[in-house]
Amino acid sequence: MSDKDTRSGVRIEPPERLLMGPGPSNPDPAVLRAMSQNMVGHLDPYFLEVMDRTMEMLRAVFRTTNHHTIPMSGTGTSGLEMIMLNLIEPGDDVVVAVIGYFGQRLAEMATRAGARVRVLEAPFGEIVEPERFAEELRNRPAKLVALVHAETSTGAEQPITEVAALARDHGALVAVDCVTSLGGMPVEVDAWGVDAAGSCSQKCLGAPPGLGPVTFGPRAIEAVGKRRSKPSTWYMDLGLLFKYWGETGADKQRAFHHTAPVSSIFAFHEALRLVLAEGLESRWQRHRDAHKALVDGLQKLGLTLFTPEHHRLPMLNVINIPDGVDDARVRGALLERGIEIAGGFGPLQGKTWRVGLMGMNADPAKIQRLIGALREVLA
Ligand SMILES: Cc1ncc(COP(=O)(O)O)c(C=O)c1O
Repeated sequence: MSDKDTRSGVRIEPPERLLMGPGPSNPDPAVLRAMSQNMVGHLDPYFLEVMDRTMEMLRAVFRTTNHHTIPMSGTGTSGLEMIMLNLIEPGDDVVVAVIGYFGQRLAEMATRAGARVRVLEAPFGEIVEPERFAEELRNRPAKLVALVHAETSTGAEQPITEVAALARDHGALVAVDCVTSLGGMPVEVDAWGVDAAGSCSQKCLGAPPGLGPVTFGPRAIEAVGKRRSKPSTWYMDLGLLFKYWGETGADKQRAFHHTAPVSSIFAFHEALRLVLAEGLESRWQRHRDAHKALVDGLQKLGLTLFTPEHHRLPMLNVINIPDGVDDARVRGALLERGIEIAGGFGPLQGKTWRVGLMGMNADPAKIQRLIGALREVLA
């Protein structure tokens, strides 16, 4: 291809899709419009105000008063890695609950941060009971307990409250991956006693992918302050980042750290505004209602869910593929009808579909559209 061909190439004109996979979900048009507003500098007084308001709204969504609450530049993974690299020093003991693929990733991140990792595992679809954490910590203390709240690979909710309380009783910090849960079901950082949590922009919060919302509480900040050595990361160094985002909230001197993704933060600001305008409780209820509507519709098609009912997530539904039905053919036929759903993960590949009801897509009309399309395709 010549240079001229490349330059006169194809314009971006993505097809319209109903995104009912594990994320991204469809952002509200107002969020997409926010993304195409005028560019301003990342130290412009206007942008500094946007940063402050974004932090304030994000605290409300995480249900925390933690000052250190920001959308990290980079996807959800960047925020989770930031937590691990700041809280863990080489040689620290860390306990990680693994109930699926995303727990495995947390364990791998902790290992790469130099931790001595002990894994508490449960079979896909199940959770780790709090008593196992208690036993593990009684046998040997740990600096950090890390767990995934909403395991996107299995559709299971790992309850946090009890685990966080007993981890604290044993002197351990608690870090939670709430990438899939935040904005779609209760996440109570302060009330649960969570020291650090990381999420994403593109699922139940309804912004485009690209940001990793994180929050760090006082015990986490204290642990970072007591580190014997600097974190091995420069980009994700909490101390350096908050010289830009503001150390205390009162300091208006912001030092350059990296060029914030201005347009992404505009979109995220708008998404947070919409979440809070709806109200968190109403939004959680809407996700629960959507889940019920989906399960009803699936039942009528003779389809069942993989995850045991007592710890099913509302926003991520893992559906058993009936015998003799071709996974890829069904997903392909749905995509031809403009609907994206996802396949299963790891051992569940080819055996399950994953249907996300996230943000705007936790909506009865969209669920009816999916059920109608599935009925056609399966027939
Ligand atoms: C539970 C969980 N953790 C972490 C991630 C990674 O987030 P991101 O893709 O935004 O980096 C995902 C993404 O789907 C997830 O579902």
